[in-house]
Amino acid sequence: MTKQRTSFDSSFPIELTERTLRDLSVRVCWLTDLHLNMVSPGEVERFAASVVARQADVVLIGGDTSESKDLVEQLARLARRLRVPIYFVLGNHDYYYGSIEGVRTRVDELCRREPELHYLSVVETAVELTPQVGLVGHDGWADGRLADYFASSVMMTDDWLIAELIGLTRADRWERLKALADEAAAHILRMLPMALARYQQVLLLTHVPPFRDACWYAGEISNDEGGRLYCG
Ligand SMILES: [Fe+2]
Repeated sequence: MTKQRTSFDSSFPIELTERTLRDLSVRVCWLTDLHLNMVSPGEVERFAASVVARQADVVLIGGDTSESKDLVEQLARLARRLRVPIYFVLGNHDYYYGSIEGVRTRVDELCRREPELHYLSVVETAVELTPQVGLVGHDGWADGRLADYFASSVMMTDDWLIAELIGLTRADRWERLKALADEAAAHILRMLPMALARYQQVLLLTHVPPFRDACWYAGEISNDEGGRLYCG
């Protein structure tokens, strides 16, 4: 994200030292849906090495890093291997076999122990990547409001693997999903205007596509049937 100098750009400083150029740019590595619980520790290690080789200044992780049983361990391992600031959100799979409240509590505790790890859903300010570029983010949540929740026959694994969703009627589950999505939207509504007022560019990191046109599956925009799965 280095600002390109052109002969017509009078706003660019005339004297650009190496230090100034470094301050104006940042190398970002964006990772998402790693599902590290599905691979061996050796494969995680090789993957981490491939990320290190890219010499990123900052790593962003867009959720579904693993499942609740080993999420904290996997994030801690990435932090120790990558040794650069990691800004992340959580995806639905990160809560599997646990509860949303419990996982968020453990992740919060982890971030206090590992200074390179930052869980954006609880960061109440825009993160400055460069003086021109800010970062905000939240898990988001798919509640199907962009599709037709009651017309869809799709059952999500979330409904029997995340404690807060287990055993609810279909109507009660929708209320819970909407509450989770509203919480995400409220965070973005607080953060985004603040970030846009301060930075020329703002990156928004989230797990769930917030717009229907961004809800792609198998090469097509998600329909009402699949909207429960992918749309925020
Ligand atoms: Fe997901």
